[in-house]
Amino acid sequence: MKIFVDSANFVELEEALKRGFPKGITTNPSIMAKEKKGSFQEHIHKIIQLIKKYNYDIPLSVEVFTKDPDEMIKQSEEFIRHFGDYPNLYIKVPIGWDELKVIHELRRKGVKINCTCCMNLNQAIMAAQAGANFVSLFWGRIRDIGHNAADIVSRAREIFDHSGTSSEIIVGSIRHIVDVNEAFEAGAHIVTVPPRFFKDYCKHPQTDGAVNQFVSEFEAWLK
Ligand code: E4P
Repeated sequence: MKIFVDSANFVELEEALKRGFPKGITTNPSIMAKEKKGSFQEHIHKIIQLIKKYNYDIPLSVEVFTKDPDEMIKQSEEFIRHFGDYPNLYIKVPIGWDELKVIHELRRKGVKINCTCCMNLNQAIMAAQAGANFVSLFWGRIRDIGHNAADIVSRAREIFDHSGTSSEIIVGSIRHIVDVNEAFEAGAHIVTVPPRFFKDYCKHPQTDGAVNQFVSEFEAWLK
C-alpha cells in the first residue's frame, strides 16, 4: 500500500512532503497546465529540489506531451537529459499500439516507465507485458462511462500476481475520498491522490471530540 501525490503544485507537494506519507509523485500535462506559466524543465527541476530538500528518494512520474510516438521518444530523451540525474524518474507514456513500441524501446534503454491512461484490463495486461514498471488505471474516468473500476483493478492485480510480473498498479483519477480505500481494497499497489483530499482523509469528528475532551479535562484538573 503506497500513497502518491497527484500534483505539480509546489505548495501542495511541500505540505505533503513535510508530513512524511508520500511514497511518490505523479504529474501529467493537465496537472502541469494548472500551474503558473513558465519553463517546464525548471518546474520539474524545482519538484526534484523539493523532494531532495525533504530527503526523499521517491518515484517522480513526468508525462510526455505529444500524441506522436517518435516525438514521445524524443521528449523522453529530453526528460532524461534534463532530469535523468534524479534516479527515481519515471516517464509516463499512454497505452496504445504504437505507444507499446515507445515503452519497449525506452525499457530496453533502462528507462523506468509509468504506462498511463489505462481504462480496462486488456490495456493493463499489455502495458505490463511490454515492461511498464507502473500501470496506471484511471478509476474516475472508468466509472464515468459506467464501468466497474474496482472489478478491473482487482482482476488486474490477480493476473499480475499470478503471472509474477513486477509491474505495479497505480490507481489514478481519484474523484472522492472513498475512491482511495476502495482502490486499495480492490488491489491497487499504489493510489495517487490529488492533495485536496488529504486533510479530510485523516480527519474524524470523534477524534476532534476526544482530543478536545482530553485537553479540557486535563486543563480543569491543573487549575
Ligand atoms: C495520474 O497519474 C493521472 O494522470 C491522474 O490521476 C488523472 O486524473 P484525472 O482523470 O482526474 O485527469
